[in-house]
Amino acid sequence: MTSSQTLSKLIEKGVLISPEILDKEIDELLLNSLVEEYGETLDFLDEKVLRDFEEKQKSKDEHKIKIIKSYDKPPKKRTFQDFVSVFNLRFKNITQMLKYRQDLQGITSISRLVNKNNNERVTIIGMIQDKSLTKNNSLIIKLEDLTGTITAIVKETEKNKELYQTSNDLVLDEVIGVVGVIINKALFIEKIVFPDIPLSKELKKQKEEEYVVLLGDTHFGSKHFMKEEFTKFIHWINGELGNEEQRTIAQKTKYLILTGDIVEGVGIYPGQEADLEILDIKEQYQEAANWLKKIPQTIKLVVMSGNHDAGRLSEPQERPFKDMAEAIWAMPNITIVSNPAQVNVGAKDDFPGFDFLLYHGGSLIYYSENVPSIREAGGQKRSDLIMKFLLQRRHLAPTHKSTLYLPDSEEDFLLIDAVPDFFITGHIHRSSVSSYRNVTLVNASCWTETTDDQIKRGLEPLPARIPIINLKTRDVKIMNFLTKKSKEKEEEINKEVKELKKMT
Ligand SMILES: [Fe+2]
Repeated sequence: MTSSQTLSKLIEKGVLISPEILDKEIDELLLNSLVEEYGETLDFLDEKVLRDFEEKQKSKDEHKIKIIKSYDKPPKKRTFQDFVSVFNLRFKNITQMLKYRQDLQGITSISRLVNKNNNERVTIIGMIQDKSLTKNNSLIIKLEDLTGTITAIVKETEKNKELYQTSNDLVLDEVIGVVGVIINKALFIEKIVFPDIPLSKELKKQKEEEYVVLLGDTHFGSKHFMKEEFTKFIHWINGELGNEEQRTIAQKTKYLILTGDIVEGVGIYPGQEADLEILDIKEQYQEAANWLKKIPQTIKLVVMSGNHDAGRLSEPQERPFKDMAEAIWAMPNITIVSNPAQVNVGAKDDFPGFDFLLYHGGSLIYYSENVPSIREAGGQKRSDLIMKFLLQRRHLAPTHKSTLYLPDSEEDFLLIDAVPDFFITGHIHRSSVSSYRNVTLVNASCWTETTDDQIKRGLEPLPARIPIINLKTRDVKIMNFLTKKSKEKEEEINKEVKELKKMT
């Protein structure tokens, strides 16, 4: 018979205890915590229940998620002044990043350029107010700072191909450093300096082999939700599917990040009702919670808003409204953040953890279409290039109209002020992995079938993929959960897209 008082009490209450537990030396503290956590719902106790609970307790202590930045301000009326202030704030913040750069010595304010002599070399910091092309392909760029404006010129010549391409990719409202020569009151650009990621950025690695799994755009509640593929994922994450290596990865997965569009939402686009399996938004979140609860509770979940979630559409988007998304808010192993957000993952006494910049990705499509070099390299299929472009600008939406943006006069929330270790996005439904100056860039996949409407709109999603980050090596692998049927369908779609491209 057991000497444990707690076990004796459990037996008295009628809880079924397996013989191996009764024969074992039991950690009384652990057992007490288990009884406290499960309360009256505990009716059976064996080795597995105890071991799972022990794992969960350990992971509570070891696998920390800390919110560094998440938008949580109460709604307020915006005025024209807020728009002016947010541009001024952005200019000041990016000036701070640029002003001590070695290649930007002796910065002059734009109002002082009128006094400069012909052929004098100058350095300025400016926001791009306008950009146009002359008949002979010279770029005319109007730059402004807090003191005035100046017209800058970049000619297309054999010698300055690189500078011309960089200048051609500049977008409205971005803030850059410029070195150039004054000729007839105009500034002939010689060099462009972006706020950028410092070259000294360290590639942080942790000692333990642990994994972060990225889920993108689940769209629970949609008729197009890929139930079979998601079920495969659930089996894998529970260690019931895959080869030995894949099962080990599942077992060592400690974190999961969902990059927005948790649910399909309601009223997002005209005629959306026809695409809805679940019409009520609360029930969509209940469906989300039902699926997410199938993920082992030892895994910490980080979930963020997307443009389909319950909340305002403009960025920064608050966390999904509590009264509508109640079912996920009630989950014990979840951290819910705004869009965008920054979280620190896995900090320990002797390790600072990894900083993850999370952005659903409202602005990504704009840059895929409006930056010539990205457009020509494949547009929205090149999320790697778009993400690098944004990191160089240190802003998630450098052009104001690139996303729905609600200005805040106190804070430019889409500014990338701290350099992250990982930059994670979603929204374009294609998984991709790349790296820029030791920042790992990952776009997550999605869990909705590709519809005819998406094909017509020129979108080419890559659904049912999971990017998996190894925190020890910093390698990222993409695991494919397509079923045989959905693989065939994807091949068919690819053919169709190719045909469509030939026609246009
Ligand atoms: Fe989405």
